[in-house]
Amino acid sequence: MYCRGFRVLVMCGIVGIIGNSENGIEEPMHSLKRLEYRGYDSFGFATNNGFLEKRVGNIGDFDASGLGTASRVFICHTRWSTHGAVTEANAHPHLSCDGEIAIVHNGIIENYQELKKELEEKGHRFRSETDSEVIAHFFEQALSENMSIEEAVPEFMQRTKGTFAALMIRKGEDRIYAMKRDSPLVLGLLENGFMLASDIYAFSDRTNRAVFFGDDEFAVVGVDGYEFFDSRGRRLDKEIQDFEWSRENETKENYEHFMMKEIMEQPEACRRLIKSLQSTQKEKIERLKDMIVGAKNVMFVSGGTSYHASLLGVYLLKQAGINTQSVIASEFQNYAMPDRDTVVIAITQSGETMDVIEALKYVKNRGSRIVSIVNVPYSTIQRMSELSVEVMAGQEVCVAATKSFTNQVTLLLYLASMFGFETDIERMPDEISETIRLNEEKIKKLASELCGRNDIYVIGRGLSYPVAREIALKIKEISYIHAEGMMGGELKHGTIALIEKGTPVISLISNNNYDMLSNTKEVESRGARIITASNSNEADLKIPSNDNGKFGILATVLGQMLAYYMALEKGLPIDRPRNLAKSVTVK
Ligand code: G6P
Repeated sequence: MYCRGFRVLVMCGIVGIIGNSENGIEEPMHSLKRLEYRGYDSFGFATNNGFLEKRVGNIGDFDASGLGTASRVFICHTRWSTHGAVTEANAHPHLSCDGEIAIVHNGIIENYQELKKELEEKGHRFRSETDSEVIAHFFEQALSENMSIEEAVPEFMQRTKGTFAALMIRKGEDRIYAMKRDSPLVLGLLENGFMLASDIYAFSDRTNRAVFFGDDEFAVVGVDGYEFFDSRGRRLDKEIQDFEWSRENETKENYEHFMMKEIMEQPEACRRLIKSLQSTQKEKIERLKDMIVGAKNVMFVSGGTSYHASLLGVYLLKQAGINTQSVIASEFQNYAMPDRDTVVIAITQSGETMDVIEALKYVKNRGSRIVSIVNVPYSTIQRMSELSVEVMAGQEVCVAATKSFTNQVTLLLYLASMFGFETDIERMPDEISETIRLNEEKIKKLASELCGRNDIYVIGRGLSYPVAREIALKIKEISYIHAEGMMGGELKHGTIALIEKGTPVISLISNNNYDMLSNTKEVESRGARIITASNSNEADLKIPSNDNGKFGILATVLGQMLAYYMALEKGLPIDRPRNLAKSVTVK
């Protein structure tokens, strides 16, 4: 979507439901709410009997019961956008001029301006500033030229540049047309109909059978069945996949926020992962080890919190004598040159991050082997990989990653231990619980002291450097406080100029690391308010383990809690921070 010369990036969740009897809006809204973590600026839905509703805001608070809408066919959308107005007009669904066609779209139609111009010249009037609206008008035009939708889809795919997962309905027709390129789309097989959605979580409480769309595929889904086609309109035989997805994490239980619930789930999630690496995933992790041994180069690719996990992976594997590097996904093509002898390991919670997908396409073209470490099974990145090891964190609802990070790092620690890195990984779950127990009250006090500050610095070295970055990220995204996570050794090259009397500096000191102790003294002597997190007895925040490998995880848990309690003090929307989305499906 573009607006006043700015590119408006949109990530969204889409849902389409078709059933053999009329249903109220509650059912589709329930599924859409399950996708709200994909975007939550605005939402909307349409039915094939002409009902259209669009709203600005979160779906969470919306009570659909009063609408009295009933239909056999619904399409729904939840939207996330940046650089542009969040308005009802820009919310989906979008309609054709005559209102006969309604569409929802996730992705970006890059050449929409050219298509829009052509359609306007043919008399179409646009009501929104979105790129998505061209889809509705494109098909309206095709119908007016006596083409069927099925005939027009190949032309649409040929003409369109960009990415799309799009659903389309026509008034009076019991059908949903679904098309996919790059953005994720899956068909769920329900007992009494079908659901199309951005990911399986939309329907994982109702079915465990799904058909995944490949790129440039489209499907016509009716009340009694469905057909898939390739971009030239040739029929495809698609496999139905049975998937497993734990239902344990669907409510907040007694917690006020998903974030705290997910922080508290970390010991259990970590235990589950370790167990799986010793049983159901044993063969996979051993294969990963063999692939690393056989490769000339090993590179990680990831973004956000997963990138911080990958940096810890580089450190831990290096301690075990294995040389790897990590290149952030959004810059991968500018900085990395993988080749046929390279194994590229993608680390991703969602398995849908567009930057990672783009990097992997580049990697594939260069002939490297692709492995992934993912949380969401059946995700695009998992399906792009030759081998995929799952982090088994379960559904993570809060936008800020917590337990998925802990499990990513646990997996990497486990891998390093297979190469000889010494760690007592079995004790990790209990040590996470112990870290929380020991520090929670101190962290609450610290949070009320720091929550009014404008800047917080977090410093680390070696293992604690990625942790410093991860803690700073958590503070920024949840508590809206500017935070910088950096290498202790780099302070002297500029940042130390910002240290004044009382400036908060969180110092992550593993095993009395001498250089970290001196960096801490350097800022302390300039008046900084130092908060130490370490395994020494004098630490402000105490880490109950001398195991260097685990420091990264245990210190991060402290940072997650500090960010949480500061956000709580400030009354912020912890699970859905402004401007963010959990699954970043645009570049
Ligand atoms: C978004 C999320 C982060 C996440 C990052 C990478 O920014 O808000 O929590 O770390 O994407 O996502 P991935 O799913 O690839 O780990």
